[in-house]
Amino acid sequence: MLPPGSDSSLQRDQTKRFLSDPLTLLTQYEKRYGDIFSLKLFGMNNVFMSGPRPAKFVLIENTDVFSAREGNLEVGQELFGDSILYLDGEKHRIIRETIGSLFTHDMLKRHTVAMNNIISKIFNDLPNTGVIDIHKIIKNIMLEIVINLFIDKDLDGNSIAKDVDKLIIGVFSSHPSNLPWTEFARAKRSRNNLYRILGAIIDRERQSDSDEPTLIRTLLKNNTNKNISFTNNEISDQINAFLFAGYDNSSSMAAWSIVHLATNRSVYEKLHQEVVANHDDNFVSFDELRNYKYLDAMLKETERLYPPTYFIPRLALRSVNYDQYEIPQGWLVNICPLLTHRSPLIFSEPTVFDPERFLPPREEHKKQSPSLMGFGLGAKACIGYALALAEIKLLIIHLTRHFEFNILNGEIPRNAWVPSWHPKNGVWINIKRINI
Ligand code: HEM
Repeated sequence: MLPPGSDSSLQRDQTKRFLSDPLTLLTQYEKRYGDIFSLKLFGMNNVFMSGPRPAKFVLIENTDVFSAREGNLEVGQELFGDSILYLDGEKHRIIRETIGSLFTHDMLKRHTVAMNNIISKIFNDLPNTGVIDIHKIIKNIMLEIVINLFIDKDLDGNSIAKDVDKLIIGVFSSHPSNLPWTEFARAKRSRNNLYRILGAIIDRERQSDSDEPTLIRTLLKNNTNKNISFTNNEISDQINAFLFAGYDNSSSMAAWSIVHLATNRSVYEKLHQEVVANHDDNFVSFDELRNYKYLDAMLKETERLYPPTYFIPRLALRSVNYDQYEIPQGWLVNICPLLTHRSPLIFSEPTVFDPERFLPPREEHKKQSPSLMGFGLGAKACIGYALALAEIKLLIIHLTRHFEFNILNGEIPRNAWVPSWHPKNGVWINIKRINI
């Protein structure tokens, strides 16, 4: 039996609803059909699965059946080439192993020093009072961090920000059309601009004997697989993955957590107390971040309610059975953090923002495993997980130390869904500089 739900006659309506409000559409289908259902979107058969067991089935236990590369369609492949995001199997393993050296504990300690510097400099330059769009500032910070840590300290973020944004949005166009006004064509032009800039940096790095452990140098040195050398385009493809997976997702998650701090007084007070209690030096080290237990719970709650990557696509390379259902070859299978994280079987009052659900004695996430999957699972789980949490924590600690803030109109912003789930039209906050 095929998973229930799909009705070709509703395809256009379903696709439209999916684009404008996937939360409502997917929640309705889950209520009606359960934790596995189908929807025909953009002319393709899609299965959506929620809950810990399907997530393990697809992302951990059957990676030979469910392909990330094929699951990301032509558009993604054209724009991102051989980026780690869209690789499976042996090629993926080699790149992942090489890149892994950038995320060791020692490297994270080193990255944390650089991130403190970037964040405090940008916050120092803010006015003492006024109204700001903190989402825009967060995006500047996250882009600076990716560039500084992984690409080239001398590259000016402003010179590539527009092309990065256009490229990322292009990944979500439904067809790879070359008509010049389409999002896909714009993304391709931006990709070409970016690859020209990155190509010049890579050429320079090929001549350099610097030991700076950037992504470019790590791939050029390629310690683990000495017999493989990467072309400029292959290296740019990996940089692309960092810009997409790193910059945009982190910005969205940081923005949502600040939305809740700026609208929920009790959450703000608890975090503020923790920041005051831990205040020592202006710089917070990677190991000191462990002392921020409430902040950690608050970020888990943000990941739970607003997973930036709210579904994780794979393509079934052959037909496969799951419980009483057959998933045919060629169908897209989407694992859904969005639905899993709102399951009343795991979380009490799942739509309420309540960080304490992750703290003892409640620790609701331990009831079932895996209950949180905002950073993916298995061999392709987010390689930047620890770095992302560190950068968002630092950003929130610096903001709370140096500013009082509240949201401009007292309301939670509406949702925007592309490229990742983020607050629509910015996050406008009133700020007043203070010093803790
Ligand atoms: C809140 C921030 C972030 C979220 C929510 C997030 C989410 C994810 C998810 C869900 C995946 C798995 C995709 C899949 O299975 O198809 C992933 C993979 C990845 N992420 Fe993150 N990410 C974040 C931050 C970062 C950062 C800061 C970096 C690097 C600087 C990064 C680099 C990557 C890379 C390279 C992959 C591909 C891993 C692979 O295929 O082996 N991410 N991320």
